[in-house]
Parts: sequence; structure tokens; C-alpha cells
Amino acid sequence: MSELNKIALQILSNGKGILAADESTATMTKRLDAVKVPSDQNNRLLFRQTLFSSLSMKECIGGVILYDETIRQKTSTGKMIPELINASGSLTGIKVDTGAKILAGSKEEKITEGLDGLRERLKEYYKLGARFTKWRGVYIISDKYPSKLSVSANAHALARYAALVQESGMVPIIEPEVLMNGNHTAKECLTKTSEVISKCFEELEINKVDLKGTILKPNMILPGKDSNENISNDEIAELTLECLKKNVPSSVPGIAFLSGGQTELEATANLNQINIKNNTDFIMTYSYGRALQQSALKFWSKDTNNIIGTQKIFDHRAKMCSLAAKGKWSKSFEIS
Ligand code: G3H
Repeated sequence: MSELNKIALQILSNGKGILAADESTATMTKRLDAVKVPSDQNNRLLFRQTLFSSLSMKECIGGVILYDETIRQKTSTGKMIPELINASGSLTGIKVDTGAKILAGSKEEKITEGLDGLRERLKEYYKLGARFTKWRGVYIISDKYPSKLSVSANAHALARYAALVQESGMVPIIEPEVLMNGNHTAKECLTKTSEVISKCFEELEINKVDLKGTILKPNMILPGKDSNENISNDEIAELTLECLKKNVPSSVPGIAFLSGGQTELEATANLNQINIKNNTDFIMTYSYGRALQQSALKFWSKDTNNIIGTQKIFDHRAKMCSLAAKGKWSKSFEIS
């Protein structure tokens, strides 16, 4: 087994998943503004270190994705953030793209940037303790989108990123996110997501990326946020599995879904159903941002000194996601 394959399996196995705490400062500021907590370095650190020292880190969180600011921060006990994460047996990851910018040639769409100087930045992140990385491409759905240009430009960037990351001894998370915005049907999401994912694997092959040392982070197959389509967890699971079975080569060890704007409950119930129906060899787990942190953030915002209370809320959510990653979650386990 290659070192990269070992890292990927360590992150994803045994009902563990990923805590995506890699919000950029601008995004974290939006999240903190929403709960009326000032977004300064100390508050961003305090919330994150509270989560990273929770009990559930050991059993439920195989990896944490950080943003550049956080990987360099020292906790109040004097430990560096990566040390705190590693102390619970979890691995440190880092978002290495520099964000999605307007795509020249199709101005309503975006292209993710960050390839310039990436090799050097990766060396530094490895020294700081990172063992895996993330790069997110974003795609919109409408009758004319995603365009061929957006599908191929983003796949090319994702593949070049992944090759550089493997060269530096880390596991790349490949995140092609087809957004939930719009009124499209789940079937349309299936068609467009399939096109996006299959193009990514075409480019990954051209760039000689070892798929055993990667993690795919896709969206689930869902109707658009503004669509009136009524769809069950079971149908979502079926469509999602259909998409992944057709488009993901079997050498990929695992799939860690993003939550993408689903509620905590929806993201948990859908993942659970995917695992109940999973007839593939892929590990199917979570790499959630909002669907792991939302309730904890809301609770913490009322009293930022209530560390234990915040951790309890986070531990519950992480436990629910971990059960869902094994297909063993039930709505009756939820605290109302
Ligand atoms: O890039 C997006 C994050 O890694 C996942 O966040 O679960 O809130 O969509 P989300």
C-alpha cells in the first residue's frame, strides 16, 4: 500500500470523516457576522480550537481542513493548531486554492486559481504539518451551464493541483462542487455532475495522478434550492450512487461529500441512506463545513466562554455524521 493511500484511508476509515474548517477569512467573517460575533483573529481561533479539542475528534474526525491563517496559529495552551489536531489521531489538511474568480470567456462562471507558486507553498504547508490538501472548483447549473469551457478549465486546474500535491507527499482532495443554486431537477443535477466528474478523471489520468492517493469531495445529487421537486432521501441516495458508480474509477479509495447548503439533518440523513444502499467499494463519508459546525457556532455565539457546552453540541453532530457514514444513523438519535 502506498504512503498516500494509507493517509487517505486513515482519514476516511471506520466511520470517520473530515471537518472542513477551511473557511477563508471573508467567509468566516460572514458566518460570524450572522451570529453577531466580531470576526477577529482571536475569535476565529477560539471557535476553531474549541472544536479541535472536542472528544469526538478521536472517533469521528479523521482529518481537519484548515485555512492558511489557522495552520499558523498557536492555541491558548501553547500548542500549534496542527499539534492539537494530531494529538487526537486526526490529520491536518490545508486549503491551497486561492479562490474562484470570474472565468474569462464565460463571465457568469468561475475558475479556481492558485497554481502559481503552489509547489513552494506546498513545501511550506508540509513543514507546518499538513498531510492532505483541498482545492475546490465551482460550477453552476442552468440550461447553458456549466459550459464546456468551465468543465474543462476547472478539471485541468484540479488535475494540475493534484499532481503537484502528490509530488509533495500529500493527499489531494479533489472537490468539484456543482452548486445547489437554481431551480433545476435532481435528474439535471445528475447529468451535469456526471459530466463534471468524468472530465475531472480524464484530466487526472492525463496528469498521471495516482488515484489511490486521492479523495473525491463531490456534491450529492439534489434538486436545485429553488426547485419544487419533492424527493426522498432514498431517491437522492440512488441518484448519487448512480453518478459515482458510472464516473469514478474504482481505484479511488473514498468519497467525502460536501454538505453544500443542506441542513445538518438533511446532510446526515442523505449520507446515511447512501451508506445503507452503497453497493460499491468506495468508502462514503463526510467532509462537512456548515453541516458539522452550524449548531455549535450558534450555541457558542451566545457565550463564547462556554467551551464545554459548545463541544457537546459539536460532539453530538460529529457522532451523528459518523453513524451516517456507517449507515447506522436514525432520526430518533437526534436531540430535538
Ligand atoms: O468547500 C466547501 C467546504 O469544504 C465544505 O463546506 O459542507 O459547508 O458545503 P460545506
